[in-house]
Amino acid sequence: MKKYKIALLPGDGIGPEIIESATQILQRVAQIYKFQIEMCQAPIGGHAIDTLGEPLPNSTLELCKSCNAVLMGAVGGPKWDLLPGNHRPEAGLLKIRAGLGLFANLRPAVVYNALKNASPLKDSALANGVDIMVIRELTGGIYFGQRKSVHIGNKCVYAYDTEEYTVDEIVRIAHVAFNIAIKRRKRVCSIDKANVLESSRLWRQTVADVAKEYRDVELSTMYVDNAAMQLVRNPGQFDVILTNNIFGDILSDEASQITGSIGMLPSASLGKGKLGLYEPIHGSAPDIAGKNIANPMATILSVAMMLRFSLDECEAAERIEESVTALLELGYRTADITSDGIEPIRTTDVTKKILELLNK
Ligand code: IPM
Ligand code: MG
Repeated sequence: MKKYKIALLPGDGIGPEIIESATQILQRVAQIYKFQIEMCQAPIGGHAIDTLGEPLPNSTLELCKSCNAVLMGAVGGPKWDLLPGNHRPEAGLLKIRAGLGLFANLRPAVVYNALKNASPLKDSALANGVDIMVIRELTGGIYFGQRKSVHIGNKCVYAYDTEEYTVDEIVRIAHVAFNIAIKRRKRVCSIDKANVLESSRLWRQTVADVAKEYRDVELSTMYVDNAAMQLVRNPGQFDVILTNNIFGDILSDEASQITGSIGMLPSASLGKGKLGLYEPIHGSAPDIAGKNIANPMATILSVAMMLRFSLDECEAAERIEESVTALLELGYRTADITSDGIEPIRTTDVTKKILELLNK
């Protein structure tokens, strides 16, 4: 029997509740599809700061490296907001991305039929449906470029961060985008600011070169300011969006908001090999932590991405995705996506109902 080792990093806020829910679903599909899951847990984010003094202890990173995949909850919260930049929970996230070489961040933004009403966009803007895959470069650009701050006394008077990319970094993320587009609607829109930035001109040229290897995929380009506008004007025009770290950070939030259901959106961060990190894109939601009302579906769908991209258990992945869709079609809603006076169900109810659907 195949056996996979999964690192669980629940993190902060609602992290532990949603991870608990998702691991129950994972164990169930393992039984159904006859593979074994070994899970081990480690601290990250605020929880790691409190227990081990840093947001990503080496022990956590090493454990992750020894696993087939990492499933993360969320990090951060008001308790740690006043700590200096590199000691904040978010620094743990940047460190684990770099430490595991996870350069490709996949963020699907899908409007579920059953949740069309949740989108803030007019029906006319949604007419073509929304099924976008944002592919964000994750270990380069301004997030990891040279930076400096100059202080006079204890006052910062000058600071800079640098947007830097090498050809190799662009080539490898472009391949990820084209390979994913082949399995979808075969369109890649590469987003940059090539009318102003040298790094974007390199990006655009390099992506165009890679595109020559993928004759079946149509490449288009767009400036990021226009893309921000097009996303709310006509999101149905996009299939795969390929972009750098900072533009991807911003546009993926915009794309998630047009679905109106951020509690539904999973993500994957991938590197050269099979090891990936999977997490819901919503944050740690400290205000609702511990209340059993958080929506675990984004984390459950992250498990599906994990099964697909790291474990090659595609049937199990589809089964989970179908069950989540079925739950919505049956009319069940958590507090974040409820409407028309539907009484919301709780985190543990979602787990129970999805387990029931999987048993059918
Ligand atoms: C994200 C987040 C992170 C990022 C923060 C928390 C460091 O916004 O995953 O999009 O900017 O990458
Ligand atoms: Mg972000």
